[in-house]
Parts: sequence; structure tokens; C-alpha cells
Amino acid sequence: MARILVTSALPYINGIKHLGNLVGSQLPSDVYARYMRARGHEVMYICATDEHGTPAELAAAKAGVPVAEFCAGMWQVQKDLADGFGLSFDYFGRSSSARNREITQHLAAALGRNGLIEEVSEKQVYSHADGRYLPDRYIEGTCPNCGDENARGDQCENCTKQLDPTDLINPRSAISGSTDLEVRETKHLYLRQSAMRETLDKWIDSQKGWPVLTTSIAKKWLHDGDGLRDRGITRDLDWGVPVQFDGAPWSGMEGKVFYVWFDAPIEYIGATAEWADATGAGDAAWERWWRTDKGANDVRYVQFMGKDNVPFHTLSFPATMIGSAEPWKLVDFIKSYNWLTYEGGKFSTSQGRGIFMDQALDIFPSDYWRWWLLSNAPESSDSDFTWQSFQGGINKDLADVLGNFVSRVTKFCRSKFGETVPEGGTYGKAEAAVTDEIAARLRAYQDNMEAIELRKAAADLRAIWVAGNEYLQAAAPWSVFKQSPEDAAATVRFALNLIRLYGVLSAPFIPDASAAILSAMNAKDAGWPEDLNAALSALPAGHAFSTPDVLFAKIPDERREELEARFAGA
Ligand code: MF3
Ligand code: ZN
Repeated sequence: MARILVTSALPYINGIKHLGNLVGSQLPSDVYARYMRARGHEVMYICATDEHGTPAELAAAKAGVPVAEFCAGMWQVQKDLADGFGLSFDYFGRSSSARNREITQHLAAALGRNGLIEEVSEKQVYSHADGRYLPDRYIEGTCPNCGDENARGDQCENCTKQLDPTDLINPRSAISGSTDLEVRETKHLYLRQSAMRETLDKWIDSQKGWPVLTTSIAKKWLHDGDGLRDRGITRDLDWGVPVQFDGAPWSGMEGKVFYVWFDAPIEYIGATAEWADATGAGDAAWERWWRTDKGANDVRYVQFMGKDNVPFHTLSFPATMIGSAEPWKLVDFIKSYNWLTYEGGKFSTSQGRGIFMDQALDIFPSDYWRWWLLSNAPESSDSDFTWQSFQGGINKDLADVLGNFVSRVTKFCRSKFGETVPEGGTYGKAEAAVTDEIAARLRAYQDNMEAIELRKAAADLRAIWVAGNEYLQAAAPWSVFKQSPEDAAATVRFALNLIRLYGVLSAPFIPDASAAILSAMNAKDAGWPEDLNAALSALPAGHAFSTPDVLFAKIPDERREELEARFAGA
């Protein structure tokens, strides 16, 4: 049994996330965590809201409420949506927690002691119209790298380049739109990332088997010109972790806060400590996940994120952890995702384009979304959501293949033998053949889950469902029954066991449907089929079951057209 720490990139607090955000970190990390738990491993699965910085302040201002109140409310909204999608976090924390403040200030102190923090007098953009400095997202303009006109002061979303506010061409205030801006000198603290370039380079080289997407982005930032320049880790904002070092002030930094990207990843640790507090487990319980001097040496730590987050997780956060010279657990595997597009264009929070988590749950059950998003995850390249493809995936995979199998077998059994597993007949070649096929598919499924190739794993799972359908179709118990009820009974008995198996294997992807299947099969405690033959005879003759309601309703064309129209224009 291994111990696996899983973190999902922390969603910004500034609003409800769209399905592109969901499939880029929370959903795949959930499948992985569920799978690893099912295999008997000890899993700690952590997420939280990323609450600090300009996105939160801007969103709160727009909503007309104080930022702390806004964050508290939006945390609850995001938590409820996470529950709605079946995200099985062990803890969903908040980066504004006392724990994160304490650990962030502690790490800053360690970095300071090690000479990795430096005072820099830097140029900040001051807005006369707004009467304030405009850090990060408070300023927008044209990207000097790719020419995109909506680059923000911290990063260009289009080309992922990290920026400083003064890099922007034709800058404007994101608050007022004013271009009456002035560059002023103010003092800030910088993390001397450049001093760690070689260490980080070696560390990345020593990582085996990272996805190409992850490594190529990391290497690009390490070696492309200013990729690893020193970065400001403080800001002139009110909302954030106060700039203090283990509680002690740093002269000249009064009233300033740490940059959101400094404290956000630290909240992976903070949220684990929040979990320990909430459950009364105590400090040792979170430290054994995070401190290699306190038991975390045998932890495998896997992070999930969209590709825009990769530079922060391959370079900035490791720079904090390694630079502290304390025995913190570093990430072992970084799984990153490309973009999901919406009907050929971008999902956009600012333009309200695409489907948002709350809307999705109002329209269809969460399993529909989980299945389509994961079986089409932007894993090796971008992928495109279309209502057509969604309808096809649900109707074919879930309704025609899995749902239909369950319903045909249980209904046929009920009408001919009653709602108990029938006795009589023996298994023959057909059962042996489908068992062999499923065994091979199951090995591929497990290998792809281990490797976090979830789109491939979904295809393996679908193939396992299809194998059962083909078996049933060929065995045709409904026609065999008249001549030979015994043979039909053997087929049905085997097929009922396949249903139970499907309930177990499908759970990481479609947990609600799986629970319904296992409950109908009266097999709620069914474990992973470590021995396939044993799993396929787990339900003996005489075992009672119930015939489930329709598991997946098909999406008719009219419904698809109506949704296409409803989401067409913002
Ligand atoms: N909030 C960031 C985003 O949505 C992700 C932060 S991940 C963190 O892009 F863990 F580093 F916080
Ligand atoms: Zn750009």
C-alpha cells in the first residue's frame, strides 16, 4: 500500500468556474484519487480556493461587497459545486486561512535567512483616476510577446508569458479603463529565483517520466531569456498575507501583502493543515504528508493543473520549497492539461462564453459531464466541446452501451427468473472468451490509470462495457430461453456479475451511476477485482438484486438544439 498525495490547482475565488477549468485539474485529480483509494492506497486529496490578489478584489468590487465577505460566500458556492460534481476532496480549504498565513510567513522567513529575498526598488504603475497602484490584473494592455490586446499585468493568457505591469503596450486600468497612468518607484521584495536556476534545472532533469507538456514548459522558462528572472513576491494591496517573517516585520514592507502566486501553492500545505485542524488529527497527521523528516519520504505527490499553471509549479513553488532548505516534500509528478474549447472558440469567464459549473448541473446529472469531459479530456492536445459530441458520447457510451446492458439483463432476469441470480447451466467458451478479453482490457485500464492517461483509460473502460454487450448479443438468452432455460440462466448469471464488475470499475469516472448499479446489485461493498475470475462469480445463484431505474436518459435532438441555441450567444 502506497501513500499518495494528490492536489488540484486551486480555483480562483473570483467566480464560478467553467467546464474548461474543471477538466483541467479538479476532475482528473478526482478520478485519480478515487482510483487510488479503490486500489487500497492511502490517499490525501487536497484542493482549496485561491483567494488573494487582484482577481478577488476586482470581483468583490464588482459585486459591491467587502472582499472578505465575497470570498467567504464564493468559497461556499465553489464547495457546493465541487460536491455536486462528486469531487472527493479530503479537504477543500481556503488560501486566506490562518494556517496558510502562518506557513507562508514561515517559508518567507526561511528564504530570507538563506539570502534568497532581496529588496528592490521597482517601477509600479500608478493610476491617477483610481488613486492607487495597479499591480497584476489591475492593469491590462497589449502583450509585448504575442500582441494579444487583452494581456494582464501579471501574465498573458494567450501565450502564457509572465509579465510585469510595465511590460504592457498601451496599458489601461482594469478598474476604470483610464490611460492616465504614471510609473512610480516603490520598494518591494523579490525572490532570487535566478540564484536557483541550476538547482531547479537539476531537479527537473532528475524527474523521470514527466509528461512532455510539463517538462517542455518548465525547460522553456528555465532557459528562454528571462524565464527565471527574480520575481516580486510582495504587492501594494490590502487583501492578502501580510508581509511578515515568522511574525516579525520587515522594515518598509508595512501594509504590503505577499503576491498571490507566492502564497497560493503554499496553501496545498495549508489546506492539509486545515484538514488536520478540522478533523482533530493533530499536526503530526499533516506533517507526515509534507515533511520528509516526519514520514513524508514514502509519499508519492502528484499535482494536476492546466498548462498555464505549469511555470508556477515547476519553478516558482519548488524555488520556495527548495530555497527554504527545510525538508519539505516536493512534487513527484506534474500532470498538466491543454485547453478545452467551446464549439471551436475559447471558453471565457469574462465574456461568459461556454458552460459554467452551476449551469451544467442544472441541465444534466454530474456523471454525464464527468463522462464526456474525461473521455474527451484535453490530454495530448486541445479538445473541443460541442453539444453534438456531448450528445453522442452520452447516448452511445452511457445510454446504449452501459445503461442498456444493465437494463436488458436485469429486466430479462426479472421476467424469467425473478429478481435473484438464477441457478442452472454452466459457463462455457463464450464466458471464457469474454473473461479473457476483459482481463486484457482491465490491465490496460489499470496501466493507463497509473500513468494518468485518463482519456485512454476511459476508452478502455468503454471497451470493457462493449465486450459485455457483445457477449450478451451473441449469447441471446431471450431466444435460447425457450429451448434451454438452463443455458439462458447461465448467461444471465454471468451477465449480472458483469454488471457488478462494471459498477466497481466505472466508479472513478461515474461515481453516482456506479453507486446506483452496486446498490441495485446488492453489492455496495464490492472491492476492486484483484482476481477477475473471483470477481465474476461474486454474485452466486440465489443472490437477490433489484432492477434499477433508467440509469442514463438519452438526449433527444430537440433538447440538443435547444441547448445549442441557449448557449450560442453571450
Ligand atoms: N488560481 C490559479 C488559477 O486558477 C491556480 C493556482 S494553483 C496554486 O490559475 F495552487 F498554485 F494555487
Ligand atoms: Zn502574449
